[in-house]
Parts: sequence; C-alpha cells; structure tokens
Amino acid sequence: MNNASELSGDVPLGLTPSQWEAISGLTSHSQTRIPTDEASRPSSVYLSELRFDAEMQAVFRSVPVVATMSAYVQAGMSLAQDCYGVPILITRDKDGVARCFLNACRHRGAKLIESTEPVKSARLSCPYHAWTYAADGKLIGVPRQETFPSIKKCELGLVPLTTYEAGGYIWVGLDPEASPEMLPGSQQICEDLEAFGLQNMHVYGRRLYDLKANWKLVVEPFLEPYHIQRLHADSIAKMFVDAPNVISLIGPHQRQCSGKANFDPAILNGQIDNLHKYITHAYLVFPNTIVVTSPYYISVMVLMPRGVGRTVVDYYMLVKSAPDTEKAKELYARSYRLIDEVFGGEDFRAAQLQQEGLGSGAIDRVYFGGLEEMIGPFHDAVESFLPNEAV
Ligand code: FES
Ligand SMILES: [Fe+2]
Repeated sequence: MNNASELSGDVPLGLTPSQWEAISGLTSHSQTRIPTDEASRPSSVYLSELRFDAEMQAVFRSVPVVATMSAYVQAGMSLAQDCYGVPILITRDKDGVARCFLNACRHRGAKLIESTEPVKSARLSCPYHAWTYAADGKLIGVPRQETFPSIKKCELGLVPLTTYEAGGYIWVGLDPEASPEMLPGSQQICEDLEAFGLQNMHVYGRRLYDLKANWKLVVEPFLEPYHIQRLHADSIAKMFVDAPNVISLIGPHQRQCSGKANFDPAILNGQIDNLHKYITHAYLVFPNTIVVTSPYYISVMVLMPRGVGRTVVDYYMLVKSAPDTEKAKELYARSYRLIDEVFGGEDFRAAQLQQEGLGSGAIDRVYFGGLEEMIGPFHDAVESFLPNEAV
C-alpha cells in the first residue's frame, strides 16, 4: 500500500506522512532490535518540593497545557476545570470559539460554575449576586447597578487565559500574566492526532483519578513497553510482545508506535480494515498528556500535578460516535471497565507503589534500561525548561 490515507477503521483513521514513515519502520518480531540505551535519575526528582515547585513554574505555568478535549465542550456549553488547582472556566460560544478564563466572578470572586460536567450556558450568571457574563467573558449584567456608581462594566470582564485549540484539545496557559506559545513540534503532534479524528470523536466516558504519586511517575509507564509482560501479565500482556517501539522525539513531545503480538510488516502491503488492531500508538503530548490508541477507542489522560506526591488524572475514552447498537454499547462498556482495571488497577497502582517505595528514602537512584529508552529523553525534556539549580 502506498497511500496511507486509504487506511480506515472503526476508529476514524487517516495517517500523516510522518506516522506512516514511523509505521514503515516496524520490523517483524523475530527481527526486532535489542535496545540498550540506559539512563538513570536521582530519586529526588520525584520527591523534592523544590524540584516540584520549579517544574510548576518553569513548565506547567510557562507552556500551554491541555485543559480538556475539544469534543467535550460543544457550542453553547461551558466547563469548569479545577484539576490543575487553578479554577479554569472553559466556554465555547455559539460560533464555536473556545476560550478559557479564571473561574472567578469579578464582583467578589465566587466560582461561576461548580459542576465538573459541561453545562449549557449562553451566558454565565454568578450564583452569588448574579453578575452575568457573555461566553466571550464580557460582563453584561449587574443587578442594581446604580449601587455601584464607580464601576465600569467594560473593565470587569472575566480574567482571560491564553487559549489554543488544536489536535482535538483545548489548550490553556495557566498563568494569566503570561502568554505562552505552542511548543516546537506541537504542530506535527496535532496533525497526527487530527489524522486519528480526535477532534470529531465522541467522549464516551470521563473519569478522574486522584493518585498519591508524582506526576512523572504516572507518565512513565506510558513511555515504556518493559512492564507490559510483567505488570499486566494477567490482563493485556497476551496482546503484546516484549519488543521496543519505533520512537520519535518531536520537539519535547514523544510518539511511539509498536506492533502488537499479531503484527507482521506484510500486513502493511495489503488492505487493512483497522490498523489499530495491529499497531498501538502512544503519545506524550508534553508535558502531561498521554494518548493511547486501541482498536475501537482512544484513551486520553491529562495528568495534573497537585503536589510533589499527588496527581489528578483526567481520563477520557473517545469513540467514533455514541454507541447506537447493543453490540457497540456492550463493547464500549466492557472497554471502559477494562481501562479502569488496567490503567487504574495496574499502571496507576504501580506509580503509587513507586511513590511509597521512593518516599521511604531507601533508594537514592532509579535506573531505566533499553526497553525504557523513552524515559531518559522525557526527563531531559522536563529538565531543559528548568533553571540549572533545580536540575
Ligand atoms: S460574587 Fe459573583 S455576583 Fe457577587
Ligand atoms: Fe501499562
């Protein structure tokens, strides 16, 4: 097959030329390379409050991060997103423009929306004294305005946060004083994810996990295949093999594609009904968003650090469209349970076990082997943003 765009499957799938090139580099399992790149880090990168504060300042408050999925906030809806510890209000006006603000009324600071679910909202009325805002943040209504003779409504709009929409995500700058630009490589990453159709998919389910683990420990299992035959021995291991991924560093972001147990390069020459049955893609959308493809759905996890040893995971399961047959309903429900068992019960549990072990002070260094070769570059990317004294 020469034309990658001809590929289609149950998850709407095209491929960018860059993705196709990577997939073309997959070998048969018998010819797989033995990766030997090692790396290590001091345990303090996961435990030090100073290090955590530096990451929050130099990374999370200085680069655009994912606020939510584009598909989750439809026109005329708003969403409160508190998981970063900054109250964010995401709106999408009737023309489809998404905007982020601080979720704080300009009168006396009350949150305008409490629900963590999207709400219908042509206008946003504060629950306290009903100051009212348009979806573009303008203050449009003040009850008994004659009692505020000195205020000017045009000066008291909601505090805007830098907002981008690309790759199926609404991105936000968490610092209202800063205007961060998209990072190098983001365009390619967004093109890849749009080729999967992420922006047009349906959010089947969303779930929050509040984990006792440093955010980097939650990222790491999604960067390495080493644990799959071991941690997941009783769940998904049989679908995969102990093989390295084809990896691409794209700016600070990462893309991995790997042939599943049933993969043979010869399939790329034929008609493929659904490439996701044979190949798994996993992305680290720097710094904190993970994308993992499955045959019938895509998982997106936004990892939001809340303390040196605490991370809230905002998990979304995306499918092509809302299930309209019993078969689809059953398949998606089963997948949603499996995700909770595998990501929740295994990957997230491992991150928390690591935090406990490292937190005991017993281990002063951690080591990454060849099948964990993406973890070193991830730490390199984080450290490239930090001031020297924090590394
Ligand atoms: S705090 Fe919002 S109207 Fe008073
Ligand atoms: Fe895993």
